[in-house]
Amino acid sequence: MTEELTIQQGSKKEKYETLLPQIKSLIDGENDTIANMANVCAALKQTFDFLWVGFYTVKEDNLVLSPFQGPIACTRIRFGKGVCGTAWKEAKTVIVPDVDLFPGHIACNSASRSEIVVPLLKKNEVIAILDIDSASLNTFDEVDAYYLEKLCKMLAESD
Ligand code: SME
Repeated sequence: MTEELTIQQGSKKEKYETLLPQIKSLIDGENDTIANMANVCAALKQTFDFLWVGFYTVKEDNLVLSPFQGPIACTRIRFGKGVCGTAWKEAKTVIVPDVDLFPGHIACNSASRSEIVVPLLKKNEVIAILDIDSASLNTFDEVDAYYLEKLCKMLAESD
């Protein structure tokens, strides 16, 4: 297992193309979800220097804060609430170009300007979500959605 992350210079597509195989080798052979989530957060934060990268895990009718990198954050989010709860309810990726324009957005950190939330699906059930916050507007698009969905699929299949 490599312990030094290689960060590709260039477009975000090139960065993701370099990152995903490294994440695969980090989580292959490790079935502890918390450990794998922790390394995924660190790898995304190191590569893109996002404001906040983290997971929330589904526990009964809440999303509960799980491994993350960045400033302290809300501990629990209810089903259907905020961007995270919406991605859970709809079981699909939600891209928010401007958090101020998303009705019900939960402001864990006032520096956050845009956001993407990707669900981790296991047997068609949402088991957790990946949430990434950016300090700039319009950070996330279909390229992020495509690669982050691949990443979440790897992670959901790792336990
Ligand atoms: N903004 C999220 C809350 C989680 S924090 O961004 C870490 C939301 O609206 O669900």
